Amino acid sequence: MIKKTHDRLLIIDFGSQVTQLIARRLRELNVYCEIHPFQQVTDTFLADFRPKAIILSGGPASVFSKGAPMPPKLVFELDIPVLGICYGQQVMMQLLGGKVERGHGTAEFGRAYVTPTSLKEGFLNGWFMTDREQVWMSHGDHVSKIAPGFEVYGTSPNAPFAITADTNRKFFAVQFHPEVHHTPNGSKFFENFISLAGFNGDWTMSAYRDDAITKIRKQVGSNRVICALSGGVDSSVAAVLIHEAIGDQLTCVYVDHGLMRKDESTEVVNMFREHYNLPLLHADESELFLGKLEGVSDPEEKRKIIGNLFIEVFEKYAKKIGGATFLAQGTLYPDVIESVSFNGGPSVTIKSHHNVGGLPKRMKMKLVEPLRELFKDEVRTLGYELGLPSSFIKRHPFPGPGLAIRCPGEITGSKLEILRAADAVYIDQIQKHGLYDEIWQAFVAILPVKTVGVMGDGRSYDYACTLRAVTSVDGMTADYYPFTHEFLGETAARIINEVAGINRVTYDITSKPPGTIEWE
Ligand code: XMP
Repeated sequence: MIKKTHDRLLIIDFGSQVTQLIARRLRELNVYCEIHPFQQVTDTFLADFRPKAIILSGGPASVFSKGAPMPPKLVFELDIPVLGICYGQQVMMQLLGGKVERGHGTAEFGRAYVTPTSLKEGFLNGWFMTDREQVWMSHGDHVSKIAPGFEVYGTSPNAPFAITADTNRKFFAVQFHPEVHHTPNGSKFFENFISLAGFNGDWTMSAYRDDAITKIRKQVGSNRVICALSGGVDSSVAAVLIHEAIGDQLTCVYVDHGLMRKDESTEVVNMFREHYNLPLLHADESELFLGKLEGVSDPEEKRKIIGNLFIEVFEKYAKKIGGATFLAQGTLYPDVIESVSFNGGPSVTIKSHHNVGGLPKRMKMKLVEPLRELFKDEVRTLGYELGLPSSFIKRHPFPGPGLAIRCPGEITGSKLEILRAADAVYIDQIQKHGLYDEIWQAFVAILPVKTVGVMGDGRSYDYACTLRAVTSVDGMTADYYPFTHEFLGETAARIINEVAGINRVTYDITSKPPGTIEWE
């Protein structure tokens, strides 16, 4: 948890798919909030957290089901504003003396329109832009009687209690989801809620930076910290922030596995050494990695080899610098939110992602994770605050196993060279056309197939490659980027003319799902 001088809002999670969006909306309004699963929120927790307001999220359960998730009653006895959303609304009504009914014929999913009643209150100021407001509904059960003290402020055809409030106690309950995109005026709803709760918008990145620096100094003391720096936004921002806090008690290790893009290693290492004067070891272990990958074509085997070697190499360099007590990681908030699972069961492994997750356990080190409270776009803002160059902050994500998973089949030095050259031309094209920032991720994959072509008067027999470019919000789902035919034609011609070893270019238009972003 962050220093308690900031006003803090608590979001109690009942397992909705969109709980994180509540936090996003509030953070955009400069309000510090944390999401905690309902099981964790006890009376002691509340006393320690000291929230200035509480939001009860939606969720898939029914208040009628056995063991239905409930917050402690204390939530309603703290004399602070509480907002219940969807399932949260039903919980409030159930606990405060209203009535919820099963949704026979009244379930509602999707777009709906809420109309105001004749009652007017400050918490709706500016919300009804017209005589009805578009909202997003997703509920099975519904409230059939509101709790004593509540009044109705908005109705929809299927939800007569779409907006209700007990303004004396500052309790608010809505049937719809103000946090989703499809409730276009949803942010205004939250703005009104936090304003009446008395938040002063003190959650800014420069405040975060100062807090984080104090916190890191306190946690680390005079001990040494080691950080695996990949050149990606998260590890870069974490490293620079920690360096600001404890200077040369931090050492970074850049593990070069020989699977980086053209000139990438030199650019990353120079940037950190020259701009930041940050102690950085350049671990050139490309021979080791490429040697162990020789003859391997199975994607999972590649990933496992790279992941294990990474840990081995990192340990070697940690010993070289005389050990460290702490390991710094660029873990983000979405990775630490404990999601509430009602149906349980392990999910299928699609790919074994490479990250440095195995390190802390093996090396018995304590973790420094200064980005644990932040979302990705907040990390970027912090990066700007710390003076990182925009070209670094806006870089497309690059996977830990690097080019290995963009080279289906066997990896060879010559294939990697061809791939690097083609990728550089492609990215240059994207930048020249001003498209880089519109695209979530773009890269070339070299295909394990040679095709016949005719170049000049001769026959060619070279590799085919594919271009990939996707739009996405979080990498979980993605769509292909709709380049123009002119762009694709020009890029294909440039790659074939400028890159020896490729005579055919294709464009991958698979979305995710069913595809994945990377080829392996
Ligand atoms: P997929 O291919 O699973 O990729 O659709 C989703 C996002 O994750 C990146 N990716 C990785 N990132 N280690 C990483 O740090 C990995 O092992 C890894 N595999 C995929 C991928 O580039 C995309 O942004």
